[in-house]
Amino acid sequence: MRSLSSVFLLLLSSTWAAALDIRADPSPTTEVQDGQTGTLIVLPPQATETGLKQIPDAAHPFVAPGPDDQRGPALNTLANHGYIPRNGIASFEEISLAMMEAFNLELMLGANMLANNILTQGNPFANKISIGGVSPLVPPLPGQIDGPVTGGIAKHGRFEGDASMTRADAFIGDNRLAAAWKVWRQRPGREQHRLQCCNLIGMKKQNIMMDQAANPKFEFAARRLNNAYAEASLLIDVFANGTTKQATLSIIGSFFRNQTFPPNWFRAASPVTGAIVANTVSQIVAAIPVQPGRNNAQGVPALRITTGPRTSPACL
Ligand SMILES: *[C@@H]1O[C@H](CO)[C@@H](O)[C@H](O)[C@H]1NC(C)=O
Ligand SMILES: *[C@@H]1O[C@H](CO)[C@@H](O)[C@H](O)[C@H]1NC(C)=O
Repeated sequence: MRSLSSVFLLLLSSTWAAALDIRADPSPTTEVQDGQTGTLIVLPPQATETGLKQIPDAAHPFVAPGPDDQRGPALNTLANHGYIPRNGIASFEEISLAMMEAFNLELMLGANMLANNILTQGNPFANKISIGGVSPLVPPLPGQIDGPVTGGIAKHGRFEGDASMTRADAFIGDNRLAAAWKVWRQRPGREQHRLQCCNLIGMKKQNIMMDQAANPKFEFAARRLNNAYAEASLLIDVFANGTTKQATLSIIGSFFRNQTFPPNWFRAASPVTGAIVANTVSQIVAAIPVQPGRNNAQGVPALRITTGPRTSPACL
């Protein structure tokens, strides 16, 4: 966090900026520092075509990633289909456009999440981020003001974090999604079960409790809490089949297990906005009244959440 706050300080302090020469004239699009050319980040326009559409189109076939391609906790499907560069290294504009095209994510919602990620886990000077881990294609910021390497989206505790529904906790090295869905998968017909907000609440509660018990270094910070719930809401708000608005386990499984679009899948019929995600998040927050916290030095939970049935009967 110390190095991260340096970034903010840098942005706020003109004295520092002048000293490190990051924001000085001439235009950052031509400025070279530490061998990197500064690249202006430009917000693309909101797509005008925002209706129902089958994804992927013929120009975006699945190709499994090669050994040098970066993959991480998010955006893998977009890379596997070439909506963003297949090597997993992309610019702000490339990812913004891909999220609008493939997921019909409204520009400002996508751009907001992405800007946070590029600022904290990418190289905003060169306008590049790795969707996985450290890559030689994403150098550290000039002057190494955020440390000697740039971590990528997989960097622990910034975007990817504890109590994740879809990925391993870095400390445990287990797959949370598989664990949370184990019960459903044992029942016949479960693949076509429709995921609803009450399921997300149940899964999220279970994630937090299991991770807190299993991970002595468990931490659920305020910055993480919001992401963790927003991540949950994406499961039903973004990955649902746009024609039916249903997110079945087989659809979600295709994204998370196989990292490919399900066959015959349609993106949302109208843009997925911040208000839509916030509505789902607020239902989860209301059902899981947990304050940010962490296990103490002895691994004893300082965080308590209301236990209860994993899902309501109406949800099973
Ligand atoms: C994942 O891919 C395998 C092999 O192609 C396939 O058999 C399986 O049905 C796929 N699963 C999902 C959830 O798409
Ligand atoms: C999405 O809905 C359409 C229309 O009901 C259906 O034909 C298609 O198979 C569905 N796709 C998936 C992945 O469920």
